[in-house]
Amino acid sequence: MCGITGYIGKDPALSFVMQGLQKLEYRGYDSAGVTLVDEEGLSTYKTKGRLSELEKLLEDKDCPQICGIGHTRWATHGVPSQLNSHPHSNQKNTISLVHNGIIENYASLKEALIEKGYSFQSETDTEIVVNLLDDYYYNDTHDLFEALKKTLKGLEGSFALCIVSTIEPDTIYVAKKESPMVLGKTKDASFCASDAPALLAYTKRILPLEDGQIAILKKESIEVFDFDGKKAEEKWIDIPYDIEAAQKGGYDSFMLKEIHEQPTAIKETLRGVLVNKKIIFKELDELNYKWKKINRIYLVACGTAYHACIFASQILQRNIETPISHMPASEFRYGDPYLDRNSLCIFVSQSGETADTMAAMKLAKEKKAKTIAVVNALGSSMTRIADATIYTCAGPEISVASTKAYTTQLTLLTCLSIYLSEKINDVVADEGLLNDLKKLPDYVREMLKEEKTIEELSHLLDKKNDAYFIGRLLDYPTALEGALKLKEISYVHADAYYAGELKHGPIALIEKKTVVIAIASQSEVAQKTISNIEETIARGAEVILITKKDTQADKFRHVIRLREMNDVLYPIVSIVLLQLLAYYTATNKGCDIDKPRNLAKSVTVE
Ligand code: G6P
Repeated sequence: MCGITGYIGKDPALSFVMQGLQKLEYRGYDSAGVTLVDEEGLSTYKTKGRLSELEKLLEDKDCPQICGIGHTRWATHGVPSQLNSHPHSNQKNTISLVHNGIIENYASLKEALIEKGYSFQSETDTEIVVNLLDDYYYNDTHDLFEALKKTLKGLEGSFALCIVSTIEPDTIYVAKKESPMVLGKTKDASFCASDAPALLAYTKRILPLEDGQIAILKKESIEVFDFDGKKAEEKWIDIPYDIEAAQKGGYDSFMLKEIHEQPTAIKETLRGVLVNKKIIFKELDELNYKWKKINRIYLVACGTAYHACIFASQILQRNIETPISHMPASEFRYGDPYLDRNSLCIFVSQSGETADTMAAMKLAKEKKAKTIAVVNALGSSMTRIADATIYTCAGPEISVASTKAYTTQLTLLTCLSIYLSEKINDVVADEGLLNDLKKLPDYVREMLKEEKTIEELSHLLDKKNDAYFIGRLLDYPTALEGALKLKEISYVHADAYYAGELKHGPIALIEKKTVVIAIASQSEVAQKTISNIEETIARGAEVILITKKDTQADKFRHVIRLREMNDVLYPIVSIVLLQLLAYYTATNKGCDIDKPRNLAKSVTVE
């Protein structure tokens, strides 16, 4: 979702601005642009398409300016086009800005500005902001900071804004509400960006801007204010990983690298949480909640993280007598869920910035519910709103298709369920589960050895348009996530069903050579799932079966066996096979693995 970069310092700004936009490519975009500024004026270059197009445009340009902003746009208002791409400037070409988010009241603002004689080039909501700023500056305050404060007060919706002007060519103004923005500083320069990877080659110390804050960046200083202009506290944090960690490290794609990083990511996630066969969450102890009073639990998220919620709600419900539900955040926020001060809401997110999950969290806070965030990105917005945050330690996940974020979410949610079961219902942790949790990184490493087999099996999907994933109980979220991975990166249509539901409709779609992927890892129901698959074989389906060592499955040609472990943990190892299946299917088709079409890594608009 839109990437922003900005630089003011002693060197030409373009180099930082462009490298930063490249680091933010994972957010997804359809056009890109930059504005460079000095006393002589604003120079704006923008184009539809990839950053390489913008580079071509800049090839023969002389760009010595030491102040500049850049943007990759993911279209919301108006089609992807040169005109709609950012930066947007006022008609006098003295102010230029980039924007991430959505201005909800843009239509009424636009009308008022048109009445005052303003005209617009693009279909975007962003162009309204630069004209509003122009109006306040030239017709009212004659002071850019004052004009910005007035502008921000008139905006409804979400925004991260980054502004340069010929009025103050040595200054970048930044403002944030509900869209991410981080700042960085070295001796000779100040930077801003939508996300830390853009800054890491320059500094590992970052300042995440908070909602309702304005920052003024100059070469030698950064100052932060609230929207009323009062000085605000600055909470700088150190990012523990460096830029190499965000590079591909020898793999063909970030996705493959991240699939292989899962044993380490899981180990890191368990560090400090699983200690001497005990689950420890100090940040939750410090909440001093009266856990036994919890009257219901909601697990809320989007996309892959939502699948982690389906998994977690099942394991929680096995031990806790309180009603537990899972909901996609986009439904939760409008679905009028029952919430009071004894409700516990658990929000799961890799980025900690997803707009729907943020809105759902804010709703829970308004209703005084208790809130816990399960997040990967340090210092992200959700971590600043939730009562407490527990971190998955997956490291930076660059590939749009989420892999290590998912398995670390499942791991941490398993630990959280053990913790909550004890707090809410005095359930003593299952020692076998704790032992296997400790060995989980090794189990996942073992699973990765099946890569070659999966690569071969992926050819079953050559020239196929559809695939079906089935599973029961804890295998169901695995089926959903496996189908999502395949859809996202290979564009093969994939559906997931409860295995028992197959005969109630979907079986009508099964014909000769239809590919069905069945996961049967749960002791109680594995054999039942296998009976369901036999029904598909009878209709000519090509079945890939993932099951435990001891399950009777003689009739199947393609069987992958899972080593013995506690049933709860199978979803964390079996999904690795499905991630690889999606990866190789997409590779066979020549798809762009890390940047699938139409998708964004971090969806910061509704
Ligand atoms: C986007 C990504 C998904 C991700 C979802 C939720 O749709 O493409 O991979 O699962 O957002 O993101 P979050 O950062 O909240 O986990």
